[in-house]
Amino acid sequence: MKDILIKLQGVSKIYDGWRNALKNVDLEIEKGEFLFLVGPNGAGKTTLLKLLWMEEEPSSGVIFIDKYNSLEKNKKRLPELRQKIGVVFEDLKLMKERTLEENLSLPLRLSGKKEKHIKSRTAELLGAFNLYPKRKSFPKEISAGERKKLAIARAVINEPLIILADEPFGGLDEKVTFEIIDFFKEINLKGSTVLLTTYRTDIAKSFKGRIIQLERGEIRK
Ligand SMILES: Nc1ncnc2c1ncn2[C@@H]1O[C@H](COP(=O)(O)OP(=O)(O)OP(=O)(O)O)[C@@H](O)[C@H]1O
Ligand SMILES: [Mg+2]
Repeated sequence: MKDILIKLQGVSKIYDGWRNALKNVDLEIEKGEFLFLVGPNGAGKTTLLKLLWMEEEPSSGVIFIDKYNSLEKNKKRLPELRQKIGVVFEDLKLMKERTLEENLSLPLRLSGKKEKHIKSRTAELLGAFNLYPKRKSFPKEISAGERKKLAIARAVINEPLIILADEPFGGLDEKVTFEIIDFFKEINLKGSTVLLTTYRTDIAKSFKGRIIQLERGEIRK
């Protein structure tokens, strides 16, 4: 039996009353899947991720994620859902006033992990992403590619139920890109469902995952 974790049913998103960013999108994602959402600039990739993060509401249609759905009026359960999702936002959303180490450990702190575990897991990921020597630096003191890596490390640190990463390879060189894909794969094998967006069709194709093509807000069948 299929174990559907995410479902979009007739989802449309219209901004400002006229800009139709998503058009009647139907999509089912099974638990444990690894997917690429591919499409050119303006196709609606970020919009779809924002809807999944419940930062935006659909203009019509419904989104189901785990035990939550977009029609739910009780927003109190939203933080509970978000704790299960690791996100790499297009604009990263790193905390400027906090060190790399502090940025990275935040998801562990929010989920109430023990200090000993926080320390060791944070050090482990800093090492894996070659950021350990810069752990006391602030985001503005590292390169753009390193900031991207930090945001990715933060999204995966908790081994969340779902990982959403918006254009995670933008600004990264080929070597790091493939290291990062391996990292996502590893975390996927441990059980996380992974959804990555990219306009780089070549990267998506070189990887054996499911590819969803979005064009002008519609999924190409
Ligand atoms: N907050 C917003 N208000 C109004 N229009 C928006 C908003 N966000 C996105 N749009 C519009 O919705 C459409 C889809 O945008 P979206 O950011 O989802 O595309 P994308 O596929 O992520 O593109 P990119 O590859 O450039 O990141 C675009 O036409 C964009 O102008
Ligand atoms: Mg985008």
